[in-house]
Amino acid sequence: VTGTDTSLAATAAAYDAMSARYAEVTGQGVDEPPLDRAMLAAFAEQVTSAGGGLVTDAGCGPGRIGAHLARLGLDVMGVDVSPEMIAIARGWYPALRFTTASMGALPLPDDALAGIVAWYSIIHAPPGAVPGYLAEFARVLRPGGFLLTAFFEADGDTVTEFDHKVTPACRWPVNALAGLAADARLAEVGRMSREPGPSERFRRGHLLLRKE
Ligand SMILES: C[S@@+](CC[C@H](N)C(=O)[O-])C[C@H]1O[C@@H](n2cnc3c(N)ncnc32)[C@H](O)[C@@H]1O
Repeated sequence: VTGTDTSLAATAAAYDAMSARYAEVTGQGVDEPPLDRAMLAAFAEQVTSAGGGLVTDAGCGPGRIGAHLARLGLDVMGVDVSPEMIAIARGWYPALRFTTASMGALPLPDDALAGIVAWYSIIHAPPGAVPGYLAEFARVLRPGGFLLTAFFEADGDTVTEFDHKVTPACRWPVNALAGLAADARLAEVGRMSREPGPSERFRRGHLLLRKE
């Protein structure tokens, strides 16, 4: 779907080049603020109480979010377009599975997943490609499966690009992203929006969605 566009190749190359530095900065832990971790915990609980099943960490980078979800009891596989990121993730978390692929063309059959977490990964997609990613997530999620996505919030009503440290990224109005998700049959369960912390520039948005 969106797996071969040139911006995707540029994203992969940028994360390949920065992978060691990125992993050094994030580390293996999830030291996000309590509200962010609460969303991950809510996602894990929703997936588990719906019967559990395979979950994909889409755009997993060094794998720390997927590893956190595994500690919360989920069966996780990580996917990233950057082979260098996948190599780090495999080294850090040998018990988990990781695959190099675009989350716009997941190597999974229809209805395969109980959940997807896309934690600051659709931020690098050109805005016009985001409906394709959401459609792919909806394809691989089973009915009743959950998607949790985290992103940088826009100040107003329009998507805005900013100078992300690794490669260009977009800030999204929460309503705009929720609207595109609804178009892809991903219905909103809830949202969490928080102020930036001392070392952060933008408000942070989180959407929890359920496939119809
Ligand atoms: C800001 S990092 C976040 C990494 C991880 N989710 C975390 O929070 O630690 C964005 C990641 O998304 C990956 N990514 C971006 N677009 C992607 C795509 N279309 N398919 C798979 N991975 C993608 C990048 O390679 C990068 O590892």
